[in-house]
Parts: sequence; structure tokens; C-alpha cells
Amino acid sequence: RMYKRLMTCRGDINSLNVPFLALYESLIPPEEEKAKQKQLLTLLEKLVSKEWPKAQLYLYGSCANSFGVCKSDIDVCLAIEETAMDKSEIILKLADILKSDNLQNVQALTRARVPIVKLMDPVTEISCDICVNNLLAVVNTKLLRDYAQVDARLRQLAFIIKHWAKSRGVNETYQGTLSSYAYVLMCIHFLQMRRPAILPCLQEMETTYSVTVDDIKCGYFDEVEKLRDFGRHNKETIAQLVWGFFFYWAYCHDYADSVISVRTGNIISKREKDWTRRIGNDRHLICIEDPFELSHDLGRVVDKSSIKVLREEFERAADILQYDSNPCVKLFEPY
Ligand code: CTP
Ligand code: MG
Repeated sequence: RMYKRLMTCRGDINSLNVPFLALYESLIPPEEEKAKQKQLLTLLEKLVSKEWPKAQLYLYGSCANSFGVCKSDIDVCLAIEETAMDKSEIILKLADILKSDNLQNVQALTRARVPIVKLMDPVTEISCDICVNNLLAVVNTKLLRDYAQVDARLRQLAFIIKHWAKSRGVNETYQGTLSSYAYVLMCIHFLQMRRPAILPCLQEMETTYSVTVDDIKCGYFDEVEKLRDFGRHNKETIAQLVWGFFFYWAYCHDYADSVISVRTGNIISKREKDWTRRIGNDRHLICIEDPFELSHDLGRVVDKSSIKVLREEFERAADILQYDSNPCVKLFEPY
């Protein structure tokens, strides 16, 4: 009986559609911000091309995948064929080039997992991280952007989930919780699994876009303008989906055996991935398969104590949406 009560959400759940959509609208970056990002990218291109005429700069991450909220930093990837220098040397050289211009707080972080140069542009007031030859991130950025084109509910859901995660302090990979990228993959997967499905599985469809990056073949159907009415048979509202998302991660996901996989649009088993035991620091306590780098579990940052924090937060959110009298405030309350 308890289970049955939990399986269906409260009768007035749809009263949350208006506040959720208002929150979503308030988080969308204004057009000026996009223009400033372009302006900074143009400046960086000019500076980089003096030293490396053939190098290219790509935007990736939230500034390019359509899941960026306003006032985000931008992520840039320098694509360069430089055989004489290793990555750290390129990073140091890049920092030198950028220091010579009117950019502030230029720092080379050569020992990070992904080595980057950090900087702040005082003209646009935008902060930026530049990595080197991380082209898989550029390709997964396109995949996320393409999924967002298929059904508007994905972007709405992901903005709300990201906002919740930031408010509740569970979007901190260095503390063992999940990256924004992981949360967006969880949202895509959740919408692929609705019945009727709200999102297709683009990687299982005919390949219309294909690139090989670091020996990984990345291909999928990218003619997403043809899929604009894909989810029309599913009438679930944003409030129902937010509730359903938290309910799934609080009470339905099989943490012991399951891996969520956007690549297959399905759940796969940990056994199949050989993610059943701890290897080094990878514990696989919550498993989210990267769509292209198949050995990469986005949940690998999660440890014994942070999995508890995460699951308690999912339960808290599901219970607030179910029973609280003022869920919209309570849900995003700072921790
Ligand atoms: N990325 C990745 N693998 C990870 C983490 C990130 O490939 N384990 C790449 C993805 O292309 C992602 C980008 O790095 O889009 C930026 O990651 P992240 O900062 O988590 O996401 P953003 O979308 O930039 O989110 P935020 O708005 O919080 O900056
Ligand atoms: Mg980012």
C-alpha cells in the first residue's frame, strides 16, 4: 500500500508547472551574454593564432551544449597538432601568450586531471577555462545540444535539476558528488526511458554524423530537426517529470546492479561493464556510462560517504515533492 501511494505523485503536482517554468525562464542566459562569449572567443583566437596559426578553438560544456544557465564560466578547447611539446608544455606556453594581453588571473593548472589555463577577461567579465585537445568533450557537447533540440522538456528538466544540485551542494566532483555533465546525462536517460519515450536514442539510429576522436568512433543521428515531434505521445508535464526523476533515483534505481546508458537508451548491468568491484579509486557506486568513452563511469568520483549524501538528497527531493506544502521553496533551500 505504501509502495502504491509512493508510485503515484500527489494529485496537485501540476500546480508546480508554473513555478518550475518561471524558474527555468529566469535561468536562461540573455542574448547579450552569448554575444560577450563570442567576443571573448574571438580575442582568444587572435592571440592563439599568432603563436599557432593552424590551431583552432572550440567552445564546449555548458556555454555550447544549451544547458548553461546565466553567468556561467565558459569552457574552451584548444585543438592543436604539436608534436614537439607535451600537454603541460602547451598549457604553460598558452598561459604565457595570454598573460601578455589584458587578461586577468591567468593561471596554468598543469597537474589537474584535465590540465587547463584559467583566466578572466575584464572587458566581458567572463571567466574561462582552456584545455588542450580534449575533443571528445567537444563531440559530447554536440550530442547534448542535439538532444536538447528534440524535446523542450529536456532543457527545462536539466536546468531545474542542475539548479537543485547546485543549491543542495551535490554538484561538486571534488567532494565526491556529480558533475553537471553527469546530471544532464541522467536527465537524457530518464526521458529515453519514459513510456511513451520522450527522447529517442540517437546513437542507435542511422548514423548521419560521425567523427573519430582518440581512436573512438563517435557516430549518431544528428538530423534532429526531423525529430521535433518525437515525444508528442507523452503528455507528461515538467512538474511530473521533476517528481519522476527524483522518485526514480530515490526509490527505483538498482544501485547494486545497474548502469544507466544514454548510448543504448537503456539500463545495462554492471557485470556487462565489469564495473562490479572497486579498482583503484573507481568504486562504481552509482554508474553513468559516458556515451562515447565507454570505459568512463561519470559516477567514479562518488565514494562511500558521498553516495549516502546523494541518495539522501534524492529521497529528500522526492519526499518534498510528494508531501511538502511549499515544495518549490523547500526543494532548493540552501543546505
Ligand atoms: N566533461 C566530460 N567528462 C566529464 C566531465 C565533463 O567530457 N567527466 C566535458 C563535457 O563536455 C561537459 C564539459 O566537460 O559538457 C563541462 O563539464 P561540466 O563543468 O560538468 O558541465 P557544464 O555543462 O559546463 O556545467 P556548468 O554549468 O556547471 O559549468
Ligand atoms: Mg562548465
